[in-house]
Amino acid sequence: MKMFLRFALSALCAAVAPSAWAQAAFPSKPVTMVVPFTAGGPTDLVARGIAQGMAKPLGQPVVVENTPGAGGTVAATRVKNAAPDGHTLLVHHIGMATAPALYRKLAYNPLTDFEMVGMVVNTPMTLIARSDFPAKDVNEFVAYVKANKAKLNLAHAGIGSASHLCGLLFQSTIQAEVTTIPFKGTADALNALIGKQVDFLCDQSTNTTQHINAGTVKAYGVTSKARLATLPNLPTLDEAGLKGFEVGVWNGVYAPKGTPKPVIDKLAAAIQQAMKEPDFRKRMADLGSTVYAPEQSTPAALAAQLKSEIDRWGPVIKAAGVYAD
Ligand code: MLT
Repeated sequence: MKMFLRFALSALCAAVAPSAWAQAAFPSKPVTMVVPFTAGGPTDLVARGIAQGMAKPLGQPVVVENTPGAGGTVAATRVKNAAPDGHTLLVHHIGMATAPALYRKLAYNPLTDFEMVGMVVNTPMTLIARSDFPAKDVNEFVAYVKANKAKLNLAHAGIGSASHLCGLLFQSTIQAEVTTIPFKGTADALNALIGKQVDFLCDQSTNTTQHINAGTVKAYGVTSKARLATLPNLPTLDEAGLKGFEVGVWNGVYAPKGTPKPVIDKLAAAIQQAMKEPDFRKRMADLGSTVYAPEQSTPAALAAQLKSEIDRWGPVIKAAGVYAD
């Protein structure tokens, strides 16, 4: 009987100990937050804001690592293959949902190869052009692009990036195809636009607001349902004539599959804490971005959002016949 009790006790300890240990010991070193695009761009901005706010509740620094390439799929593959111990995270956006349709040889399944940690912010995009672009509003812009499509080029951050998707939607809406120029992030694409090396770009308001206000780029419209309080003179693309043109770029945080639940819980709580930081909220609001409410940013909310966006974009991309490979 004694023998049986000892066996039962050690079996119980074996069942309980790993997760209790994982929670107590985590994090045992700095956490790496992998960003799928270049430094200084919109995803990087969100990642750095959240990383800063997570450090205090976690008791360890959260270090941002930029791993750009192939529309974000290089970074996602890197995190999929990382140790599932919570020390390597991925911050990604809508591209996590569109990659399965765009990349037929994708090295991961977004729904089954990751643990969901939380949703962070939602950011609209702005349609902008080089500062000397010869069109004063959306109607003139569309007419000019249609008439000059052979000589115009559209910058984006790689196939599957938000700027690529928004650009695709724009071209299919106006029924005109232009040459597209991929960069490794819209930080670089925007610099090329400011330098007039490319003609136009669809990019998140977090990256473009200050350049629109400074006049270093020309803005035509925003992809949100309503105008932004931060850019009140900029019409929505819908009201300017591109009916139903709406794109919101949502950011989520992921960990490798198999990361213990207590670790995910600790990370999710740290993200929620970071999202409450007044400085982070103000920075995001000033740039037209919306921080998700606590109940919209849970791991379950991210899982639901990812699934519904895969279901939404998959058929659109397949019908368009656009593939990265
Ligand atoms: C970035 O951080 O560079 C962007 O999110 C790229 C994009 O998806 O357009």
